[in-house]
Amino acid sequence: MNKEQTRFNFDSNPIFETIDYEVAARSFIPGYESIFNMALALLSFSVSEQSHLLIVAAGGGMELTTFGKAQPHWQMTGVDPSAKMLAITQEKVAIHGLKNRVKLHQGLTHELPLTPLYDAATCILAMHFLPDDGAKLSLLQSISQRLKIGAKFILVDICEEKSSESFNDFLLAYKYHARHLGLSPEIVEEAATNVVHINCISEERTIELLQEANFSKVTRFFTALWFRGWIATKNT
Ligand SMILES: C[S@@+](CC[C@H](N)C(=O)[O-])C[C@H]1O[C@@H](n2cnc3c(N)ncnc32)[C@H](O)[C@@H]1O
Repeated sequence: MNKEQTRFNFDSNPIFETIDYEVAARSFIPGYESIFNMALALLSFSVSEQSHLLIVAAGGGMELTTFGKAQPHWQMTGVDPSAKMLAITQEKVAIHGLKNRVKLHQGLTHELPLTPLYDAATCILAMHFLPDDGAKLSLLQSISQRLKIGAKFILVDICEEKSSESFNDFLLAYKYHARHLGLSPEIVEEAATNVVHINCISEERTIELLQEANFSKVTRFFTALWFRGWIATKNT
């Protein structure tokens, strides 16, 4: 198994047999839609109108549709190992008339060619599924190696050490938030069991990994319960 490979498989997860991915994501992730609008806002003034973006974990289609609708000339390449998540993406890309500007790759980032380099990249809500045994670093390095010098990178992850005092409070709040927004107790409990697959790390460790993967100027732009987002710059 390649280091970048996730141990949590979205194709065999029973939760998505019973609930639409976007409904679940909006209920479990406070500010879910805002993440993509903020990523768009941050990237829009740092890249040109004719840019090509790398969208890692493109399953679900939120990045591609949010960016594609707002930026009519951006080209985007989406990568995701999940056939089911990419099927959702494909449908949304077609509905929004973005097919001619979007390429999709079912697989992992390291499988993409090393050239041409991308102008910016995102990896939203995926790295926390990878263990910190070299897998997170491999993913970040695969992204960094495919970016132009000075390119911006947006990372969003669950960020809280499992051994920390706050972890359990955030877990309880995560469940309450989803119940409050209308998800059934069964769905919420099923999702909470998936927490065992989450390999979340502290912000300090996240920044260390980003620096090791040749990123600098790491700035946090998003915090919602245990979800955090950063923008970083690919070094020279
Ligand atoms: C919670 S979803 C997030 C999808 C989308 N970015 C969003 O925010 O709605 C996590 C996605 O990451 C994908 N994924 C898991 N491991 C990955 C990896 N190593 N590289 C790229 N994508 C991965 C999963 O297949 C899934 O589609």
